[in-house]
Amino acid sequence: MMRITDHPILGPLEKKEVTIQFNGVNYAGLENESIAATLLANGIRTLRYSEKEQEPRGIYCGIGHCYECRVTVNGKRSVRACITPVEDQMIVESQGIRHEV
Ligand code: FES
Repeated sequence: MMRITDHPILGPLEKKEVTIQFNGVNYAGLENESIAATLLANGIRTLRYSEKEQEPRGIYCGIGHCYECRVTVNGKRSVRACITPVEDQMIVESQGIRHEV
């Protein structure tokens, strides 16, 4: 997992771990962080594929404006991964045709 676990100013990282599933694979996240942050910490940059050309898409603005990060969460489509906190046992799926596992 790619994280700063002991920051010189903020101190040690002390958050409860949660597990989410992305495209059928379990990943560890930390409570109150976004879906996008959890996936990025696990090395995942492609969140979906574009409708027209099936090109990979990921985090762009990171603040909920562009909708490039939209994913399906627990069956609900077009949820913005960058502003949606992870919850334990959350099921997240890419939108588009291709799926990376
Ligand atoms: S990255 Fe722009 S809305 Fe999520």
